[in-house]
Amino acid sequence: MLSNKVQAILNEQIKIEAESSQVYLAMASWAEIQPGIDNITSFFYQHSEEERQHMLKLIHFVNERGGFATIPALKQPQLTFPSIKHAFAALLKHEIFVSQSINNCVDLVLAEKDYATHNFLQWYVAEQIEEEALARTINDKLELIGDDKSGMYMFDRDILSIGIDKK
Ligand code: FEO
Repeated sequence: MLSNKVQAILNEQIKIEAESSQVYLAMASWAEIQPGIDNITSFFYQHSEEERQHMLKLIHFVNERGGFATIPALKQPQLTFPSIKHAFAALLKHEIFVSQSINNCVDLVLAEKDYATHNFLQWYVAEQIEEEALARTINDKLELIGDDKSGMYMFDRDILSIGIDKK
C-alpha cells in the first residue's frame, strides 16, 4: 500500500513523464516540417513514445500498489525551435530536470521507508543515467558539426544508431 505522500509524488512523476512525451512530440512535429532530417524526426517521435511508456509503467505501479493514478492536464510544450541544436539543448535540459524529479521521488520513498517503491524507482534511476548520457553525446556531436551541412547530413543518417549503442 502506498502512503499518501508517495502516491502524490508518483502522480506528479506521471505528469512529468506525460509532459516529457508532449515536449518530444512537439519537437518531432517541428522536425518533421524541416527539410532533410527524417531520422532526427524519427528520433523525437521514438523518444516521445518512450516517455509515454515511462508514464504508463508508473500508472500501472501506482494502481497495482493500491493507489490511484490520476491522469493530469498537461501544459503546452514549446512548439518551434531556432535550430536543431537548440532543440537538442532543450532535450538535455529537460532530461536533467527529469533526473532531479526522480531523485526527489527516491529521497521521499526512503524517508517513508517504502522499499518496494524504492526498488521500482531504480529502473528510472538507471534509465535517466542512459538518457542524460545519450543527450550529452548528441549535443557534443552537434557542437563539433557546427554549421557544416555535410556533417548534419551524416548526423541525421547516424542518429538512430547513437541511441542503440547506448542501450
Ligand atoms: Fe522518462 Fe526521459 O525521462
